[in-house]
Amino acid sequence: MSLFPEKWLLLFLTSFLTFNLVFPENTPSTRKTYIVQMDKSAMPESFSNHLQWYSSTVNSVVIKPEKEDPKDDEERIIYSYQTAFHGVAARLSEEEANRLQEQHGVVAIFPETVYQLHTTRSPVFLGLEREDSTSVWSDKLSSHDVVVGVLDTGIWPESESFNDTGMTPVPSHWKGACETGRAFAKHHCSRKIVGARIFYHGYEAASGKINEKDEYKSPRDQDGHGTHTAATVAGSPVRGANLLGYAYGTARGMAPGARLAAYKVCWVGGCFSSDILSAVDRAVADGVSVLSISLGGGIISYYRDGLSVAAFGAMEKGVFVSCSAGNGGPDPISLTNVSPWITTVGASTMDRKFPANVKLGTGRTITGVSLYKGRRNLSTQKQYQLVYLGSNSSSPDPSSLCLEGTLERNVVAGKIVICDRGISPRVQKGQVVKDAGGVGMILANTDANGEELVADCHLLPAVAVGETAGKAIKHYALTSSNATATLAFLGTRLKIQPSPVVAAFSSRGPNILSLEILKPDVVAPGVNILAAWTGDMGPSSLPTDYRKVRFNILSGTSMSCPHVSGVAALLKARHPEWSPAAIKSALMTTAYVHDNTYKPLKDASSNEPSNPYDHGAGHINPLKASDPGLIYDIEAQDYFEFLCAMELTPTQLKVFTKSSNRSCQHSLASPGDLNYPAISAVIETTSVSALTLHRTVTNVGPPVSKYHVTVSSFKGVSIKVEPATLNFTSKHQKLSYKVIFTTKSRQSVPEFGYLIWSDGVHMVRSPIAIAWLAPL
Ligand SMILES: *[C@@H]1O[C@H](CO)[C@@H](O)[C@H](O)[C@H]1NC(C)=O
Ligand SMILES: *[C@@H]1O[C@H](CO)[C@@H](O)[C@H](O)[C@H]1NC(C)=O
Ligand SMILES: *[C@@H]1O[C@H](CO)[C@@H](O)[C@H](O)[C@H]1NC(C)=O
Ligand SMILES: *[C@@H]1O[C@H](CO)[C@@H](O)[C@H](O)[C@H]1NC(C)=O
Ligand SMILES: *[C@@H]1O[C@H](CO)[C@@H](O)[C@H](O)[C@H]1NC(C)=O
Ligand SMILES: *[C@@H]1O[C@H](CO)[C@@H](O)[C@H](O)[C@H]1NC(C)=O
Repeated sequence: MSLFPEKWLLLFLTSFLTFNLVFPENTPSTRKTYIVQMDKSAMPESFSNHLQWYSSTVNSVVIKPEKEDPKDDEERIIYSYQTAFHGVAARLSEEEANRLQEQHGVVAIFPETVYQLHTTRSPVFLGLEREDSTSVWSDKLSSHDVVVGVLDTGIWPESESFNDTGMTPVPSHWKGACETGRAFAKHHCSRKIVGARIFYHGYEAASGKINEKDEYKSPRDQDGHGTHTAATVAGSPVRGANLLGYAYGTARGMAPGARLAAYKVCWVGGCFSSDILSAVDRAVADGVSVLSISLGGGIISYYRDGLSVAAFGAMEKGVFVSCSAGNGGPDPISLTNVSPWITTVGASTMDRKFPANVKLGTGRTITGVSLYKGRRNLSTQKQYQLVYLGSNSSSPDPSSLCLEGTLERNVVAGKIVICDRGISPRVQKGQVVKDAGGVGMILANTDANGEELVADCHLLPAVAVGETAGKAIKHYALTSSNATATLAFLGTRLKIQPSPVVAAFSSRGPNILSLEILKPDVVAPGVNILAAWTGDMGPSSLPTDYRKVRFNILSGTSMSCPHVSGVAALLKARHPEWSPAAIKSALMTTAYVHDNTYKPLKDASSNEPSNPYDHGAGHINPLKASDPGLIYDIEAQDYFEFLCAMELTPTQLKVFTKSSNRSCQHSLASPGDLNYPAISAVIETTSVSALTLHRTVTNVGPPVSKYHVTVSSFKGVSIKVEPATLNFTSKHQKLSYKVIFTTKSRQSVPEFGYLIWSDGVHMVRSPIAIAWLAPL
């Protein structure tokens, strides 16, 4: 087993220098947190319990300082893990970690990593429209027995979204707890919030003790992110959700009947992998059915990414794990959380907009978006001078980006300032303009965001415009000696076409770890999402924002993930026997790939049709997902066989085998043979050849049903499916088929299409991607 060689070297060199110059050997400050995975079954008989053995193993490598340091009372073991993962998190010097690798029973050692929340903050005010598709189906199913664990920044229990009126008593199988602390007491848990726990040992070990004046060392959420994601999963309906008197509507989560358990793993200083692992472990033991994890980062490798390994353990216990895909789009290969046992969720828009107009001195009107809510419009009679502090080249500079300290009062006072999007938070740019005496802001997209508009709750009159409009306005400001404009705010508009559209920021495939597993899995609403908010932070999250709101609007794959978690809770309630893979299959094979104009789902960054590397199987369709007809089921051993087919070494495989009796049966000919609901064919040779992939479907529709296959055509390959009909005679019957790809002509770019099984009622659709590997 190895730590990462390059990183290891770097750590070693750094600490060596530090040691020589400043610190005595092995003081607490040279220690780091390591997650140590142990082989539970290797415990020698001399130990009576695992914790005792783990602790003895760690202590056996601890280097005692030559002189006792009375100040060195640091606890070496900060966590022990027992459910989804086995081992400990421990504070060790590099040398101790090195020694520990050699100890009996030690499977792997991961250094602590810091994960980020997957949000681009874009607060606004609005009301949720009643005919919104997200609210149609959510009342129809009962989900009282399903507990969703949310790993995030905690929860604001006073929010009306967590009102438990009408809920039945907490199910007896629930083993969670309500941990108390500053501003969080037992009574803050309820029939809705059935669990609340905090995980901070990894954070404190890295960042020092939590200062309780600055931060609640309790499940209380001061950031707002965790309250927002939890309410999106399972918030109770709140009628008249209304922000600063601006708009009116009903806010509700996807599964209003489900219960929530908040696992606070993210703090002011970040989210640490040892805390995340501990929370997953605890949540599985507590009895959650679904885990919603809107964060990512860490190491891109199935076996070195703590979240991937913990999610494998959760999946083995039947827990559905939904994670955000990341906000690294539109760059390709920007995904996180790509393990096949995780449901990876990208973000798309809804059919709702908040238009605002820029009226130029030339008479031209340009429409952008804004959620600015001030006392008045800028006077529509008066034109204000327009200023842009960049050049007409396409590269932004610090003052064109309106970074702090770059705007001079004598240049911008009384004017509308054009600011390029990027680097600093969007609302903060407006604060910079306001502080310098500007009266308004036009926030212009650059090519990184294209035409995708994110509405914000600005602190001064401000309108966001797309890249093309931005260029035109900048050109006018730079070339006209007397450029002027005014701004007007038009409120909420519904039934916007086209929608949904894949968000530009949504992370893109392909899955660099295995091209054979298509990722992301699905997209779900993640732009301008309204949900409950903390009472501790203004809607823009800026320290200068003293407004208090009960609801806020955020954008990010952090917001799309809890939509899928909530829908998974509904599916689990309706089909308690479904495995996590069955739930994912139902979501994927019923997803749609067209928008509300019946055209292919577009990509906001290019305004062209998106493909499965952008949207996976498509946009979730919750009503259809509850009756998918067929499912592609996968058991824990199948995922393990996938890892075997990926040719992980025995040591790497051990990371996933807590019960050491799981071993490779070599049942998959290739990683592409995993019974995934999407098909990604990787074609390596240049000459004519055939590739065969295998799939097995389980009938969850009417016992006697006959399905016919349809496959799209491709330039590079011909595809044959055998058999082309599947005749089911009983419920839960499994039938297998083969997909045979024969190369026709090599293509320089990936090709995309679909395979659909239909019985005339159900359409069981799998996306197909064909990747052509460069010849060696
Ligand atoms: C919870 O909802 C019920 C029914 O709608 C209402 O009567 C009650 O006042 C609400 N409680 C809180 C704390 O908002
Ligand atoms: C920038 O402005 C100069 C002078 O007005 C012009 O010659 C040049 O073509 C412009 N460049 C771009 C990229 O618009
Ligand atoms: C600039 O234009 C505005 C309105 O278009 C006008 O009121 C103002 O007098 C003009 N200023 C100059 C210096 O031309
Ligand atoms: C702002 O101006 C727009 C267009 O001129 C108008 O429709 C809207 O009602 C105005 N809003 C307010 C708050 O006055
Ligand atoms: C491993 O062993 C346990 C009990 O000893 C058994 O229940 C389980 O099915 C075995 N798993 C595999 C993959 O063989
Ligand atoms: C399914 O039944 C049809 C006739 O109803 C038959 O033509 C077809 O071969 C059958 N398919 C299989 C795989 O048995």
